[in-house]
Amino acid sequence: MYKKKLIYIKFFLFFIFFTNISLSSETNLLKQEWSFKGLTGKFDRSSLQRGYQVYNEVCASCHSMNLLSYRNLGEEGGPEFSVEQVKAIAANFEVTDGPNNDGEMFTRPGRPSDKFVSPYPNVQAAMAANGGAYPPDMSVLVKARKGGADYIYSVLMGYEEAPQGFELEEGVYYNKYMDGNKIKMANPLSDDLITYADGTSSTVSQMSKDVTTFLTWAAEPHLESRHKMGLKVIIYLIIFTVLIYLSMKRLWSRIDSKK
Ligand code: HEC
Repeated sequence: MYKKKLIYIKFFLFFIFFTNISLSSETNLLKQEWSFKGLTGKFDRSSLQRGYQVYNEVCASCHSMNLLSYRNLGEEGGPEFSVEQVKAIAANFEVTDGPNNDGEMFTRPGRPSDKFVSPYPNVQAAMAANGGAYPPDMSVLVKARKGGADYIYSVLMGYEEAPQGFELEEGVYYNKYMDGNKIKMANPLSDDLITYADGTSSTVSQMSKDVTTFLTWAAEPHLESRHKMGLKVIIYLIIFTVLIYLSMKRLWSRIDSKK
């Protein structure tokens, strides 16, 4: 009996120890108070809308988002642009369609059902235009990187002068949070780079925060409904536990009275 307990305790300690190790390797990232973290976390709607603006005006010239369609921008739990806004956003893009009856491809204005237009026709073209480095597709980048939102935010905030004696090749930049402190993306952000539609002041940290929020939603579009569901399940389980406890007490009370 004791042996069994000891095994449980060992297992528990082992588990705690190792989860701590995996957490501690992320502690040097810049930590933010994300509104979407935690059991009841929700996206900040205006931050999502600003984040789309940053992606569209800055990042989209190099990074694709192949898994998103313009209509997603109007869906519940996302930036929730109105139907008219989504139509207008999509119409700003030129989409290649076809072939028509003559067998030719043609371009037309985008529709909400179209996928986000990619900046490059293929991976090779993207690499050729970026000194051999591929700007990763951003649809699920937040989920694909250890540290998630904090990591993306940190990379965007992590550009610094390289320390004395640090060798940087042509087209490589110093970044505090990249592996080996090297990145082949020039700092994409600078204060007042864009003019936010809602008048928010566009500092580097504000834009980094907004675009990271937007990218987190893109990688996890159902986060809000998942959180809502989780909360309901927990409340249900609590009520269920109380009911079981009460009925158990009743059952055992009868047996006790026979004593
Ligand atoms: C001029 C083209 C260009 C623009 C504009 C650009 N990027 Fe990049 N980005 C790149 C390239 C190229 C890489 C790959 C760098 C590498 O592998 O060293 C990259 C890598 C990244 C990474 C690191 C991903 C990883 O592998 O861990 C992040 C995060 C990122 N970009 C975010 C952004 C965001 C957010 C924006 C908009 C604010 C943006 N980028 C704008 C070209 C660009």
